[in-house]
Amino acid sequence: MKVLLIGSGGREHALAWKLAQSPKLSEFYVAPGNPGIAEHAAAVDLNIDDHQAVAGFCRDKAIDLVVIGPEAPLVAGLADALRGAGITVFGPSAAAAQLEGSKGFTKDLCARYDIPTGAYQRFTDAAAAKAYVCEQGAPIVVKADGLAAGKGVTVAMTVEEALAAIDDCFDGAFGAAGAEVVVEAYLDGEEASFFCLSDGKTALALATAQDHKRVGDGDTGPNTGGMGAYSPAPVMTAEMVSRTMKEIIEPTIRGMAESGYPFTGVFFAGLMITAKGPELIEYNVRFGDPETQVLMMRLESDLLDLLYAAASGTLDQVSAEWSDDVALTVVMASKGYPGSYDKGTPIAALPQTGPGEKVFHAGTALKDGALVATGGRVLNVTATGKTVAEAQAHAYALVDRVEWQNGFCRRDIGWQAVAREKN
Ligand code: AMP
Ligand code: GLY
Repeated sequence: MKVLLIGSGGREHALAWKLAQSPKLSEFYVAPGNPGIAEHAAAVDLNIDDHQAVAGFCRDKAIDLVVIGPEAPLVAGLADALRGAGITVFGPSAAAAQLEGSKGFTKDLCARYDIPTGAYQRFTDAAAAKAYVCEQGAPIVVKADGLAAGKGVTVAMTVEEALAAIDDCFDGAFGAAGAEVVVEAYLDGEEASFFCLSDGKTALALATAQDHKRVGDGDTGPNTGGMGAYSPAPVMTAEMVSRTMKEIIEPTIRGMAESGYPFTGVFFAGLMITAKGPELIEYNVRFGDPETQVLMMRLESDLLDLLYAAASGTLDQVSAEWSDDVALTVVMASKGYPGSYDKGTPIAALPQTGPGEKVFHAGTALKDGALVATGGRVLNVTATGKTVAEAQAHAYALVDRVEWQNGFCRRDIGWQAVAREKN
């Protein structure tokens, strides 16, 4: 099978590494890729915003499956253009990607299909939003409707904070994403991420993960794209997984199909496990980064089979097997991230890895043959263990063998789960 992968991050390196293990893979291309992915796939010089050029490449090479990693090309309609050209694609249409692209769209779907989520209202003017906040009181959550790179959400502990967040949105702090605002009830509980494939009709549960969004140890400091993750998430017991499937995922698949937007791809559901059970915080319509890195370490099935089944409407014919091991990834970032940081700093050495160890490339490049850091999040140092504590010790032992002076990482990824194991 000939595959084209779209993307260049640690998530795509993890997908590429796993796809490359498939005996069915015959040719493998990536656009744009990175030096880690280049060990598995041939990098092609394609402008992924030029949908016709991508379709033309797929026709020339007789590509059997395109796997789209990030959300931006999905929201821009790359999957639609490729499907229109008769190409099999893993990833939702632009219309279905509204599940991630518009919080209001998702909340309305939840309301229509009785999917548990915080009570909410949508607003296009500040005065009405503020009146609602004053009526509801704090804590309360204010969200810019559109894609705001994870920065459009304020969990306000006071009414004043919520009012200020509403002003920020309507004053343009998040650009067009803030032209509409969703105000929703604060959900109290433990967060978890749940991943599930869909071919538009059938759901196939993958696995669970927990991430660390804050830059500093003890979950302090500003939010980032994610500083580390582990899988499985201890809070997602078999009962919670089965309730999530029944109460959240299945009605979503039905709702999307009935609305005329059948969903093909992966649901990445951000959940709050409250006293009532799982409630939906948000959907992403692509794999998580760095959650995918830990998922792929635990997946025992052929990823190509799974993604092809989701893309071609045959998900009812496959199943996914997972290792019982815990996988944990530590993100190494450029000093200064998520603020400004130097680009092009040298990575002198990466460790040789053995079984249960992998260093995924997220923001690297080759400059005159030498490896350099080009992004904020640069390496995903990943390892497995029988427990979270073991996986954590294993991953940090690997981190300590990375020679990159301008890099830093959190030293406590997985701390809540490690504490739970001690009890
Ligand atoms: P989102 O971008 O919607 O995932 O929100 C970012 C983060 O804000 C989530 O990961 C939660 O930690 C927090 N959050 C969002 N919505 C709520 C809510 N209704 N109640 C409590 N925390 C929330
Ligand atoms: N790690 C969070 C995300 O991929 O959005």
